[in-house]
Amino acid sequence: MLEENFLEGKGALITGGASGFGRGMGLAYAERGADVVLVDINEKLLEDTSKQINQKTGQKVVPITCDVSKADQVKAMAKQAFSELDNIYLLNNNAGIGLGMKDITKIDEKWFDTTLNVNLKGQWLVAKELSRRMKKQKFTPIAGKIICTASIAGMVVDAGLPAYSISKAGVLALMQLLARTLAPKMTVNAISPGYHVTGIYNNEFQTMKITMDLGHVKTPLNRVGTVDDIVNVSLFLASPLSDFITGHNFPCDGGIAEVGVPAYYTKSNI
Ligand SMILES: NC(=O)c1ccc[n+]([C@@H]2O[C@H](COP(=O)([O-])OP(=O)(O)OC[C@H]3O[C@@H](n4cnc5c(N)ncnc54)[C@H](O)[C@@H]3O)[C@@H](O)[C@H]2O)c1
Repeated sequence: MLEENFLEGKGALITGGASGFGRGMGLAYAERGADVVLVDINEKLLEDTSKQINQKTGQKVVPITCDVSKADQVKAMAKQAFSELDNIYLLNNNAGIGLGMKDITKIDEKWFDTTLNVNLKGQWLVAKELSRRMKKQKFTPIAGKIICTASIAGMVVDAGLPAYSISKAGVLALMQLLARTLAPKMTVNAISPGYHVTGIYNNEFQTMKITMDLGHVKTPLNRVGTVDDIVNVSLFLASPLSDFITGHNFPCDGGIAEVGVPAYYTKSNI
């Protein structure tokens, strides 16, 4: 059984923490007793989110503005994070950008580079900086946990989201490499969301629906995803219930990646 405050005494650092899944994870962890560092490039939103979570939970919430694709900024962020919190037990490597609807032969170099730099290199830089100290922490049986936000587009590549798909396939490889390298001290797993209304779709259902229609996406469970769907998986991976799991990807997509994309087209309204 999981204790209500199972993250008491533990620190969590979440990149992309100002919005969407990151904000949901920050709140859920703080509600279970964690002190939290939220890292984001959007300074204003980061300040607002951090204040809200602190006011709701009473936990320490530290905002750090940082572009995760820049090595010098990530180094400074890691230093500040470890000076603010006693420990960082959880790292949610979650910051990411989308989308860009051109095909692989048409996307321009700048867009390709930016997407890869933020979504893939950013996760590598942050994991590299933080894991050095996380793996030496005294928690048992696991010294720390990394949870990478990937995507079903990294499992079944989406021709309409080529750079994004490549970046997320890379995140799945990065997750496995980190899991092998950091075992037995740490666990490293990934969550692959499907379609959830967040900042990546300007928080608009309609924008998301256009992306789904262009990709002929059907959702077997016949609803769109929520932030909580992903936060619930993250809570499981953050908890002792998952202490024997490392190197795995957890799709959370209403069944799209397994049965809902062509050629396994299923009937559903969404
Ligand atoms: N929403 C979905 O349906 C969906 C599906 C699959 C995967 N994802 C992934 O989920 C993760 C979280 O995205 P979200 O959906 O919550 O969207 P979101 O836009 O609400 O949140 C992403 C956050 O990342 C921040 N960010 C962007 N670039 C950054 C950078 N260079 N450095 C630091 N922070 C940066 C943004 O400011 C934003 O606050 C992303 O990795 C995204 O690719 C989302």
